[in-house]
Amino acid sequence: MNTIKKCLFPAAGYGTRFLPATKAIPKEMLPVLTKPLLQYGVEEAIEAGLNTMAIVTGRGKRAIEDHFDISYELEHQIKDTAKESYLTEIRKVITNCTFSYTRQIEMKGLGHAILTGETLIGEEPFAVILADDLCDNEGDGVLAQMVKLYNEYKCCIVAVEEIAKEESSKYGVIAGDFLNNSLVKVTDMVEKPDPKDAPSNIAIIGRYILTPEIFDVLRETKPGKGGEIQITDALLELAKDGKVLAYKFQGKRFDCGSVDGFVEATQYFYNKLS
Ligand code: UTP
Repeated sequence: MNTIKKCLFPAAGYGTRFLPATKAIPKEMLPVLTKPLLQYGVEEAIEAGLNTMAIVTGRGKRAIEDHFDISYELEHQIKDTAKESYLTEIRKVITNCTFSYTRQIEMKGLGHAILTGETLIGEEPFAVILADDLCDNEGDGVLAQMVKLYNEYKCCIVAVEEIAKEESSKYGVIAGDFLNNSLVKVTDMVEKPDPKDAPSNIAIIGRYILTPEIFDVLRETKPGKGGEIQITDALLELAKDGKVLAYKFQGKRFDCGSVDGFVEATQYFYNKLS
């Protein structure tokens, strides 16, 4: 049985790398072609069998709630016209899952954003998608692959990919013991290490499956790199007890939190249209 039903989307960050676009528009609402990043993430979660979307927002992020709702005036205007088809996908999303929201009042980092989401998740395992990491795969989506693994191993799982070592200061980097070609039992993880201190070239991307004990650990986690409460530091505590796996996923991932990655994703999805 699929035990993961909820997906948490931390979406409270300032998105400073996209200023001035993100001054009044949430980064998660920036579109790749015609679809906002967050909708891609929600569709990936639905594809993985999840039906409860929990979104951590912040000030200036109201557009997110409006997006996952019905706009009666607009629907009325385009009813029975060719334009109605433009809303087919988002309507499907809205009817296939529920959305709940909470606000992170102070942006104290990803770990803090996940802890803020506890009120929406409760005592159950859950997925986390960082919508600015846009993933695509011809077969099962990345989260669907991870949910399958969770059902087998019942522990925390982080999605990872190999990076150039010079890039390590942008990522959480792991080390551990390979169980097979794609699965690593994590023994160490470091947030944004200097390349010379990186324990490997295997970096965490924005897909996680977490067990609810992470909340207790996060409550005790002190600010780390950049003065922020880091999910990597909390996961390291669980990894010490052998409770974290890293999974080299099948598919492509674009760092849409950076301008280069965003342009690459746009080009990739545009090419897929033809
Ligand atoms: P980023 O590290 O990309 O930060 O956060 P950011 O603020 O969104 O963007 P830049 O670096 O200023 O351009 C990774 C994810 O964690 C969320 C962000 O919304 C993003 O999805 N986040 C980060 C929070 O929800 N709260 C925080 O306090 C920090």
